[in-house]
Amino acid sequence: MSPDPAGPRRLLVTGGAGFIGSCFVRDVLARRDGTEITVLDKLTYAGNEANLAPVREDPDQAAQLRFVRGDIADAAIVGPLVGEADAVVNFAAESHVDRSILDPEAFLRTGVLGVHVLLEACRREAERAAAGDRSAPPRYLQVSTDEVYGTVAEGRRSVEDDPIGPRSPYAAAKAAGELLVGAYVVTHGLDAVVTRGANTYGPYQHPEKLIPLFITNAIEDRDLPLYGDGLQVRDWLYVSDHAAAVDHVLRHGAAGETYNAPGVAELPNRTVVAGLLERLGKPWSLVRSVPDRPGHDRRYAMDGTKLADLGWSPTVPFEAGLDRTVAWYRANEAWWRAARSGDWHDYYERQYGDRLARSEAAGPTAAER
Ligand code: NAD
Ligand code: TYD
Repeated sequence: MSPDPAGPRRLLVTGGAGFIGSCFVRDVLARRDGTEITVLDKLTYAGNEANLAPVREDPDQAAQLRFVRGDIADAAIVGPLVGEADAVVNFAAESHVDRSILDPEAFLRTGVLGVHVLLEACRREAERAAAGDRSAPPRYLQVSTDEVYGTVAEGRRSVEDDPIGPRSPYAAAKAAGELLVGAYVVTHGLDAVVTRGANTYGPYQHPEKLIPLFITNAIEDRDLPLYGDGLQVRDWLYVSDHAAAVDHVLRHGAAGETYNAPGVAELPNRTVVAGLLERLGKPWSLVRSVPDRPGHDRRYAMDGTKLADLGWSPTVPFEAGLDRTVAWYRANEAWWRAARSGDWHDYYERQYGDRLARSEAAGPTAAER
């Protein structure tokens, strides 16, 4: 654990221009407690410096933030930045399961080699601390996911000691990253912790994931491509709750431990989609049943006792979180239209063109079935 009771002061936040990472940066700097943050982000299609605009617009917070564009797999960039940090919080990843099915390589480059580079830099800094060249070794936090457990049978909830069983290239890359962290804890005595967050939603999420994709498509009266029977279950966590869980584990987690950060609402996709349409005043007829995602995990569900015992639990009810999220996308059309530029149209066509051509009406909502 950090020797400073207030927690680490100088943070290197990798992937801090993405959805959850930028929320973490905004929320930590809004505390105005003297924490300094360097964001290292490659700005892939999913990263966006505009996600840090609320910090830039506040001179006091802006003074605490430095942004560096770069790749976590680039040791020459990573080394000096880790050298200046009390802790490294790694959000950087390719994060979309469907893209990992189409193009898995970038997932491995960032999720395996990138994590390796970060861990090596931390190991060198720990050696410097042991030699008296810095005051304390850095703490490393790996942001991981419930998807490493694989699909979870009805009635069960994953606990941290369960065997992992990733089933998508995305989840396999995340599991590999976690295993590397564990190896550095055992082999090199690294001060590292892992969080496994549930499906997260909220403002600033790239409109490729279920909730923002369906909100933005529905605003435009476009088809909503629901995979298979739409009865797959996810446990939803509001983004500021996820960021707070990461912060809590960073400050209080025991070295070498992994913590589940579950959501508050275990729901079939159909129910989530019905809730979005109701808020948007759009008809269920927009929903199209399309051929399923290969290897689609049926259900994720985690037990949160370990992190609750450490003093954290989620606070934002799903209904309130969904209200805020829908309102945000309605009010920030320029943001999501910009995110749908670059390769977006090619991706959409590859992912959904054929599926929508083979789609059918989605039938009744989950509640009506
Ligand atoms: P995101 O795709 O919105 O953000 C990822 C960020 O990482 C982007 O800013 C991107 O530019 C950056 N990045 C990617 N590769 C990089 C590299 N090689 N070097 C530097 N930066 C790089 O993802 P997110 O939804 O914010 O997820 C953040 C983390 O949380 C990920 O590790 C993800 O696996 C994990 N997670 C996400 C969810 C979820 O539901 N979104 C749930 C549990 C865990
Ligand atoms: P997603 O947001 O991709 O998160 P994850 O796959 O990491 O859980 O998907 C959430 C759920 O929504 C998942 O069961 C897949 C489903 N889904 C669709 O039915 N259609 C879509 O177009 C997308 C993107 C997801």
